[in-house]
Amino acid sequence: MERDAIWVGTSWKMNKGPAASVAAANELARMSFPAAIQPFVIPPFTSLKDVCDRLSGSRVAVGAQNMHWQDEGAWTGEISPTMISECGAELVEIGHSERRTYFGETDQTVNLKVHAALRHGLRPLVCIGDTADEYSYSVTNETLARQLKIALHGVSEDDVPQVLIAYEPVWAIGASGRPADAAFVERTHNHLRKILINIAGSSAGSAVKLLYGGSVTQDNAAGYVALPHVNGVFVGRAAWNVEHFQALAEGVIA
Ligand code: PGA
Repeated sequence: MERDAIWVGTSWKMNKGPAASVAAANELARMSFPAAIQPFVIPPFTSLKDVCDRLSGSRVAVGAQNMHWQDEGAWTGEISPTMISECGAELVEIGHSERRTYFGETDQTVNLKVHAALRHGLRPLVCIGDTADEYSYSVTNETLARQLKIALHGVSEDDVPQVLIAYEPVWAIGASGRPADAAFVERTHNHLRKILINIAGSSAGSAVKLLYGGSVTQDNAAGYVALPHVNGVFVGRAAWNVEHFQALAEGVIA
């Protein structure tokens, strides 16, 4: 995986069964991406191994959408870090707002999962974000500071740069979301960088990749990536089609 690259990735969320995922992965394996971009895709669990197999040796990194923090045990319906690494994934998404809102993910379980991922050599992609209410009461910075500090609690300075952070305002995600304006994203990412430096020191804190997500499109992606402390974008709907994904990735540095 490219460390200095701009990260452009998509979670397919609950879309693409095994056949559609394999078809998409085969197309992605044939595509070229600019050297400055680190592309990644996050398929559903039912396709994780197939997509990893198809994309192994390609430029595209693969991740899982969630995981449990234990290696094994009586946790019906859950997937362990060992299972995810055995599939060949390099990344694991943790704490997406849909998991926090609908499936009981908390800051504490995010922290347990971050430690589990690092123990297993998986790079955690931790999603943090303010709700519409938090935004309207102007407590975005406080909310994000809490989420980030708890997510990284107990993580060593050496390990902190392994963690990717995606700032995704809950009010910006999905069909009823509205994309955040650039000036707001700039202020917020600046705030996040300061917290990271505070937690992990200047060198490790500055090395963490900070992605923006929430209604990112081919039209607005380059504008976000041009901002200081925005090291990539995490995209949903606008990147589920693989040609659109490639075009968005190319457009980011055009
Ligand atoms: P969206 O989703 O781009 O469809 O708004 C973003 C996300 O949930 O990461």
